[in-house]
Amino acid sequence: MIDSLTGGHSLTKVLLTGGAGFIGSHTSLALLESGHQVVVMDDFSNGSAEALRRVAELTGLGPWRQDATDHWSASAPVGGSLTLIRGDVRSQQDLDRAFQDGNGGISAVLHFAGLKAVGESMAEPLRYWDVNVTGTVRLLEAMGRHGCQTLVFSSSATLYGTTDTVPIPETAPLQPINPYGYTKAAVERMLTDVASSAPGWRIALLRYFNPVGAHPSGRIGEDPSGRPNNLFPFLCQVAAGCRQQLEVFGGDWPTGDGTGVRDYLHVMDLAEGHGRALGLLQAEPPQLLTLNLGSGQGHSVLELLRTFETTNGLTLPYAVVERRPGDSAVSVADPSQAERRMGWRTRRSLADICRDGWAWQRANPQGYRSAGPQPAPELIGAQHGS
Ligand code: UFG
Repeated sequence: MIDSLTGGHSLTKVLLTGGAGFIGSHTSLALLESGHQVVVMDDFSNGSAEALRRVAELTGLGPWRQDATDHWSASAPVGGSLTLIRGDVRSQQDLDRAFQDGNGGISAVLHFAGLKAVGESMAEPLRYWDVNVTGTVRLLEAMGRHGCQTLVFSSSATLYGTTDTVPIPETAPLQPINPYGYTKAAVERMLTDVASSAPGWRIALLRYFNPVGAHPSGRIGEDPSGRPNNLFPFLCQVAAGCRQQLEVFGGDWPTGDGTGVRDYLHVMDLAEGHGRALGLLQAEPPQLLTLNLGSGQGHSVLELLRTFETTNGLTLPYAVVERRPGDSAVSVADPSQAERRMGWRTRRSLADICRDGWAWQRANPQGYRSAGPQPAPELIGAQHGS
């Protein structure tokens, strides 16, 4: 049987930096479901060990085990396995530990670790350059030491800046407008240089549009710390009664209803896109691949709000306020290359996004903190059949 996620390509042990965050945890789940062995390294600055514990539960992995060195780990690998290591992507020592605690044999890295808040990046640019750029330099050095040359990088549509092009192809000019965007552009440039510096590199630059929603189980989802910057988690918190009302940033954009239009994609579609990209890199000769991951459909703020209300039988308070500085009217992907190269397209609708996002928020009004005190493990592991 052809594996639907990998297209039948080889199943391997992979390292996910930042794998305890929103996109990383959903991708961990998708990769485990397709039979991969997953090693996650995360510093828990914006991720949660509880997310990975639930991923283990959802994928039917056995109980967490603690080994003799006071680390949690899987005993003997049978089928899929999940290992969680606390570590900072800027630390050579932590990275070496992640490559070694996975008992070696890591054949690919999916690099999610990074900072992603636009406003914060303007206030603290050095931190963004340090974590996002230096962190990637350290990771590439570690990959060199451990003989790994396959990398899937979390890039962003933020690289396209405030372009008027609709939809946006990968060939559109890159014109980031904030430090967060500059760091993503710098890493893309660095990876391009690395790919041409030596034979054998297999690198995918995945430019995400607006990933939202949650796993349909309602067990894992987005858990922003503090006030959410992004529309969808904010909307969910309004629905849960944690926020008074939604502020719609601008009602005078040159769009159908005057509110900003974005390309929202379900996080499970995005997670599956990573599985496809990994399979493609492994199956084809070494290459540098740049792909937009989006639905190709634009929806306005008010359309998203209305869909959320009708799907979930709710009415949500909102007010139209000033535009947010740095925003653009429309940002929609041309995702045709992702379909052509790896047979990937989004399968889930805006209503699916709203249903699943609300199921997560309703069951976890305080995010993973709703589950009580967090485990703070150095290393956690679980495996199938234990
Ligand atoms: N918006 C509101 N109210 C809010 C938050 C957002 O009206 O409280 C509006 C924005 O003005 C925009 C739309 O909702 O029109 C989406 O805004 P988000 O903040 O959710 O997403 P952005 O498109 O601004 O940015 C997101 C990520 C970036 C990423 C970019 C890629 O935050 O990191 O998508 O296009 F780079």
